[in-house]
Amino acid sequence: MSTTKDKSIVADLSLAPEGHLKIDWVQAHMPVLNRIREQFEKEQPFKGLKVSICLHLEAKTAYLAKVVQAGGAEVTITGSNPLSTQDDVCAALVEDGITVFAKYNPEPAEFKQLMIKALETKPDLIIDDGGDFVSILHSERRDLLEGIRGGAEETTTGIVRLKALEKDGALNFPMVAVNDAYCKHLFDNRYGTGQSVFDGINRTTNLVVAGKTVVVVGYGWCGKGVAMRAKGLGANVIVTEIDAIKAVEAYMDGFAVMPMIEAAKLGEFFVTVTGNRDVIRKEHYEVMKDGAILSNAGHFDIEVNKPELEELSSSKRTVRRNIEEYQLKDGRKVYLLAEGRLVNLAAGDGHPAEIMDMTFALQAMSLKYVNERYEEIGSKVVNVPYELDEKVARFKLESLGTGIDTLTDEQKAYLDSWEEH
Ligand SMILES: NC(=O)c1ccc[n+]([C@@H]2O[C@H](COP(=O)([O-])OP(=O)(O)OC[C@H]3O[C@@H](n4cnc5c(N)ncnc54)[C@H](O)[C@@H]3O)[C@@H](O)[C@H]2O)c1
Repeated sequence: MSTTKDKSIVADLSLAPEGHLKIDWVQAHMPVLNRIREQFEKEQPFKGLKVSICLHLEAKTAYLAKVVQAGGAEVTITGSNPLSTQDDVCAALVEDGITVFAKYNPEPAEFKQLMIKALETKPDLIIDDGGDFVSILHSERRDLLEGIRGGAEETTTGIVRLKALEKDGALNFPMVAVNDAYCKHLFDNRYGTGQSVFDGINRTTNLVVAGKTVVVVGYGWCGKGVAMRAKGLGANVIVTEIDAIKAVEAYMDGFAVMPMIEAAKLGEFFVTVTGNRDVIRKEHYEVMKDGAILSNAGHFDIEVNKPELEELSSSKRTVRRNIEEYQLKDGRKVYLLAEGRLVNLAAGDGHPAEIMDMTFALQAMSLKYVNERYEEIGSKVVNVPYELDEKVARFKLESLGTGIDTLTDEQKAYLDSWEEH
């Protein structure tokens, strides 16, 4: 029988010891997921099933894969971004009996091929991040659709793609929209992205943020977190939006709000978090300050328009790991971090373990949920049931040693009544 070592495609198996240390560290800081693991070990919800996972392949994700494995599944994993895969973590997972198809920074064609390999294992269940698995399955590899019971999707961008598929009546199996759970976007998108974006920017540039002007493009859940942390670091923060309500919210939160064409002239750091394309483009590069630093934290590397930046440039060189310097034809220089890919993952370690603890607890429970009800749900995008969301919050509070109050009978009656006052 072939082992995961024979089947896997990774960069270097000798890196496993470092990977194990990283996984041990996060496991110690993921108490909610540890409880789910104990439950899974007893109940074996995935016994005899194959699960394929496509996520940013670093230590926290590795631990999620091990929790799903502890629930009885045969697990295969691949990376959701070419720059966020950590080779030592991949090697450790192979040693732990998980099949891995991933390496740091493969060529685009190989990157996709690795994803397809993870689907060729014919999984019963999938975990997706950004919708790449689902997109491959519903287009070029429809032959692999058969047998898939359903899955769970991690991020905002993936859910946008899933809903488009559902609207066209083209979705083939149920998917749980994990991002839309409270315990996901309130904490992961806001506090996780907020903190880890500056971890990525700071360790990559080694420059000061205090006193500088940071332009946050998009004031959704991630943008709120990035703006909050930029302010905390002492920056002057400008928010750009296309949604009037979010723009007012940013204004009330104390940030300057203006169109991108104005903000482009003032920014020293730029962070895009819109899930949209070309939010920084030619007309903006043309008015930027010399030395402006651009980064993206949205899912795909299309928020900062790279082809137009190249067009305006006379040369390009790597000046530090994860920093490309674009020399513009008029003499100004503009810097792009991590090739415009998610700066917190491609140039950092992603969200803190305590944050991913809640997100991945939701992922694990959502996978169990969809496996138990896939026939009943049908080919739909469904929310994480409120009870599961609340359970994660309760486990989190317990892990913090914190309790909350409960309603008295009189309070319940009062809240249920329209007559009492
Ligand atoms: N870096 C990470 O670790 C991480 C974590 C979670 C989500 N994400 C990704 O970040 C992106 C944003 O996620 P979110 O949950 O904040 O989404 P969201 O929908 O809450 O917010 C996106 C915001 O961008 C605004 N927007 C859209 N186009 C714009 C434009 N041209 N200019 C200015 N604003 C614009 C929208 O109005 C919205 O307010 C998605 O791609 C998501 O998948 C990344």
